[in-house]
Amino acid sequence: MLIPTDPVSRYYDSEYPDPNHPVYPENTNCFKEYSLLQQDIPSYLTYAEQVQAHHILELCCGSGRVAIPLAHAGYTVTGVDLSQQMLSVFKQKLSAQPAPVQQRITLIHGDAGKLDTEQAQYDLIILAFNSFVFLEEETIQRAVLQKARTSLKPGGTLLLDNLNPAQLNLNGWTTPKPHLERRCIYSGNRYIRSSCATPMNAQQQQTLYGYYTEYLADGSTQQSDYQLTWRILFYEQLQSMLKEAGFSKQTAYGYYFDKPFSEEDRHIFMVAK
Ligand SMILES: C[S@@+](CC[C@H](N)C(=O)[O-])C[C@H]1O[C@@H](n2cnc3c(N)ncnc32)[C@H](O)[C@@H]1O
Repeated sequence: MLIPTDPVSRYYDSEYPDPNHPVYPENTNCFKEYSLLQQDIPSYLTYAEQVQAHHILELCCGSGRVAIPLAHAGYTVTGVDLSQQMLSVFKQKLSAQPAPVQQRITLIHGDAGKLDTEQAQYDLIILAFNSFVFLEEETIQRAVLQKARTSLKPGGTLLLDNLNPAQLNLNGWTTPKPHLERRCIYSGNRYIRSSCATPMNAQQQQTLYGYYTEYLADGSTQQSDYQLTWRILFYEQLQSMLKEAGFSKQTAYGYYFDKPFSEEDRHIFMVAK
């Protein structure tokens, strides 16, 4: 079994498990911290059905949290990610799926902004769970939207799920904040992630950093540091960026498709055409 060495890839599926088939049921305590994540996959499935999608592109697909359920539902899915380790986790999970599901998924290792796609072949493009803001440079964010627009068939849709910066602590914090305890799906050991964040800088970037403390069977602990940078996008900026990339119609929701977006919402769930 492949065990990722990069800490974010190692703990990702323990942090954000499949609610229906968690390796450790106790890891679903994550939904106390990220309740919206329980709802995102059903929303993508509903939306794909509504628009009668056939071929879906998931940019920044990570370890397949969203792409695998879409393929299970019968959609043809292309997934793109920059992290070789996240894709290796994805491939490992995919190898345990029924053959038709495996056949419906194509994985591409690469930068979402430099994707070499044939023109206009997708009905639906998804950037799930803050993937768009994890493109940490404005130029990359713009390139990804341009690429998404030209890769969509006429009438196709782009779905973006970003945290709403109005609800984030953009001043940062330096006292490590412990998250709920979970179990590492590779070792079975308990671990706790502790997080800090820098203040947002002039490029609207904020670095999220911290460490995972894993409690080993011999009573010792193992600490692994992590660091990720995201580029914050305020609602109006996201709207104009989409417009400048050629998306002519946008609708924003606050809780997937349940209600129109307002600044009190934790997420901006954007549907662009
Ligand atoms: C928050 S994770 C989301 C993963 C998955 N979409 C999900 O919902 O669980 C963000 C992903 O974006 C990927 N990523 C970051 N920059 C990228 C880029 N320029 N091109 C492609 N993938 C990128 C990371 O490797 C990571 O897997």
